[in-house]
Amino acid sequence: TITPVILCGGSGTRLWPRSRKDRPKPFLPLTGERTLFQATLDRCRGEGFADPVVVAGAAHAARVEEQAGDGVTLIVEPAAKNTAPAIGLAAALLPPEAIMLVCPSDHHIADPRAFVAAARAAGRMAEEDWMVAFGIAPDRPETGYGYIRLGEAIDGGGYRVDRFVEKPDRATAERFLAEGGHAWNGGIFAFRAGAFLDELALHRPEMAQAVRRAVGDGRRAERLFHPAAASFASITAESVDYAVMENTRRAAVVPADMGWSDIGNWQALRDVLERDAAGNHAPQGAELVDCRGVLVASDGPRVSVIGLEDVIVVVDGDEVLVTRAADAQKVGKLRGALDQ
Ligand code: GDD
Ligand code: MG
Repeated sequence: TITPVILCGGSGTRLWPRSRKDRPKPFLPLTGERTLFQATLDRCRGEGFADPVVVAGAAHAARVEEQAGDGVTLIVEPAAKNTAPAIGLAAALLPPEAIMLVCPSDHHIADPRAFVAAARAAGRMAEEDWMVAFGIAPDRPETGYGYIRLGEAIDGGGYRVDRFVEKPDRATAERFLAEGGHAWNGGIFAFRAGAFLDELALHRPEMAQAVRRAVGDGRRAERLFHPAAASFASITAESVDYAVMENTRRAAVVPADMGWSDIGNWQALRDVLERDAAGNHAPQGAELVDCRGVLVASDGPRVSVIGLEDVIVVVDGDEVLVTRAADAQKVGKLRGALDQ
């Protein structure tokens, strides 16, 4: 079986003002009735999946417990150290033979069946000790993602990773796109727990040791597991992409055509929401006249828009955001988003 390992970290600036520091993206119902976190859990339930493990900071623990339902183990991180240590904690807590399916809690996947098929393929490759990433076909030179150059095909429907480059600069991303033969890293991984710790020990020995110690000295309280804070505190924060995926010789990739989006900003959210014939999405009561590609989100006030194209309007409590869709990634620079 496959054990889902769900990561909940992150702040809440990119979808401000809907997301806030105390109300981060995973815990919001952005694309339907279920929150992104709940939708992530829903995708990894059923045949072939074991009970999930969630790794989150203390600040998110209450929300995780409220939204997760039964059967979930929650590892409460003593500090935010990015994804490599977070995954390391789960790997050290699980038996070495466990196959972990590491999932970010803030992505949208339009085709959950394709996700499950890719997860099964990735799980089989992880049994052979591959460090398996999910590959997404790129359609623009996005610099916020990891890039994977596909190598030779291996059994089970995947490829060796020729090279893994995390967050390249613009020129490099453009070159990868022009060259072809590259996939984006979807941020979803399959690892055998013991194999992951071995690779971590190879490339980040101090981190691996600290993580093992934090789990060894940790304490369990029913569904919660508290790693030892003292051991964890010594770790230098680093993502799994830099710490392991860029360095390992065992990297593999499973191509996954599953309608993936990491909903990195309001424009990306607009693009995954259902829209009317003019490409607009607005709550009931909002009035849009001669608009195209407009997204309106409001938690109360009626919003009326005339004659705009590719614009986003968000009303949340006492905050209002208006932006061109194409500029939505700049939201994180606003004082409102920074000072919350
Ligand atoms: N528990 C825990 N602790 N979770 C964390 C932490 C942490 O300290 N830091 C980040 N996370 C969670 C985030 O909440 C998110 O769900 C996931 O781990 C990935 O972290 P991001 O900070 O969103 O990473 P990124 O978007 O910059 O880059 C990653 O994802 C891209 C795809 O969306 C990389 O894997 C890229 O290579 C990839 O392309
Ligand atoms: Mg992300």
